[in-house]
Amino acid sequence: MQLEVERFDLNAMFEEVMRLVGPRAFEGNVTIERQIADALQAEADKRAIKQVVINLMSNAVKFTPEGGKVEVSAGLAGDNIVIRISDTGIGIPARDIEKLGRPFEQAENQFTKSKGGSGLGLAISKSLVDLHGGRLDIESKVGAGTIVTVTLPQPAKVAA
Ligand SMILES: Nc1ncnc2c1ncn2[C@@H]1O[C@H](COP(=O)(O)OP(=O)(O)OP(=O)(O)O)[C@@H](O)[C@H]1O
Ligand SMILES: [Mg+2]
Repeated sequence: MQLEVERFDLNAMFEEVMRLVGPRAFEGNVTIERQIADALQAEADKRAIKQVVINLMSNAVKFTPEGGKVEVSAGLAGDNIVIRISDTGIGIPARDIEKLGRPFEQAENQFTKSKGGSGLGLAISKSLVDLHGGRLDIESKVGAGTIVTVTLPQPAKVAA
């Protein structure tokens, strides 16, 4: 895949993502809180980054029981845009975290069974972030929640 790097507004992008993910969160009684830095611009492939954020926020909503909360923040830290998505969901066992970047891997839990999914969202997200020269890191605690951090160098360090 060839990245199409352009400059775009992250607040506008999150607005679009919320239109897709918001209704599912509402149905599941999961609150989403957003904290995006004012006028934050990214130089990246907009379609790719939007897909990454959709995948990660969908996961956060999907694996968080009713009454839980998802927090998403984005800001500039030095030469990087840092996007962080945290949830108060079921968490991921430590032994599963590493394999989850690979296609079709799922940590078995009540939600992977009842809510379906193919185990591709994280693998695709990781690949898209890698293509930007960035990183995707997962921290999690079973029963407490998960934090996924996407770090995107600015401008993107795209492989030629
Ligand atoms: N926020 C999260 N909280 C708890 N577990 C998670 C979270 N995000 C991902 N996981 C675990 O990682 C697995 C892989 O996630 P991934 O998004 O790749 O697949 P999926 O959501 O099961 O299916 P798909 O995204 O393809 O519809 C999930 O099945 C789940 O076990
Ligand atoms: Mg998913």
